[in-house]
Amino acid sequence: MSADDSNIENKNPRHIAIIMDGNGRWAQKRYMPRSFGHQAGVKAVRKIVEHCAKQEIEVLTLFAFSSENWRRPEAEVSMLMSLFMATLQREVSKLHRNGIRLRFIGDRTVFSDKLQGKIAEGEALTSENKGLTLVIAANYGGRWDICQALSKVAEKIVTGELKSQEISEKLINQYLSIADLPEPDLFIRTGGEQRVSNFLLWQLAYTELYFTPTLWPDFDQSSLDDAIKSFKNRQRRFGYTGEQVLEKSITL
Ligand code: IPE
Ligand code: IPE
Ligand code: MG
Repeated sequence: MSADDSNIENKNPRHIAIIMDGNGRWAQKRYMPRSFGHQAGVKAVRKIVEHCAKQEIEVLTLFAFSSENWRRPEAEVSMLMSLFMATLQREVSKLHRNGIRLRFIGDRTVFSDKLQGKIAEGEALTSENKGLTLVIAANYGGRWDICQALSKVAEKIVTGELKSQEISEKLINQYLSIADLPEPDLFIRTGGEQRVSNFLLWQLAYTELYFTPTLWPDFDQSSLDDAIKSFKNRQRRFGYTGEQVLEKSITL
């Protein structure tokens, strides 16, 4: 364990991962169509991205569309795709101006060529930026991520570049979607459900979990501050005892 692994010095999380849930219920409460909630959800994204950039958070990963969300009514899926496209078109240059580096994780090959083009363009334009790294999980599933990593590992075994005995956690990790980024320190799920819904399964192994009933469109800067405050008050132990963690913080 390094000094960075223990949170008792009340540091900010380096990486926050959020399941933005509750858009549909937010709209239904207002007797409006679910699409209205998704549009309001985009506004919340803007606020939270700005706030994270200001707080000097290194990485923000947002679950925008899961590999299971294709099961929704066709009209909602296509509305979400159009919203995704329109948001990219409108926001990428602004993100770039603010020094934000944009990344996408998930199986993008099923998206329209136009959308894939926009995604690639946004990533390329912002790739050298040094500010907040904003990771958008779109058609993402934690199980998909592990499968695609294993399939790359298997290919290397077939070509003889790797031996099966060399498979380790560290090795598999190298082939996962966000291998080059710090693991999520803080996971937030809005909307009241207490489940992971196939988000970053591997990467969440030691992440601090935070659930709030606040529906995503209502989640604002102060809601995020509350989540960060809760995180800062936790002792991360990574298997050690509380006493060991305290001792280490004194000697480190
Ligand atoms: C999350 O909000 C957004 C997406 C899954 C795209 P929901 O649409 O799941 O909202 P609820 O859970 O139905 O309220
Ligand atoms: C998880 O929310 C996916 C996203 C927020 C993109 P869901 O609303 O799809 O999750 P379940 O189906 O309630 O578990
Ligand atoms: Mg939901």
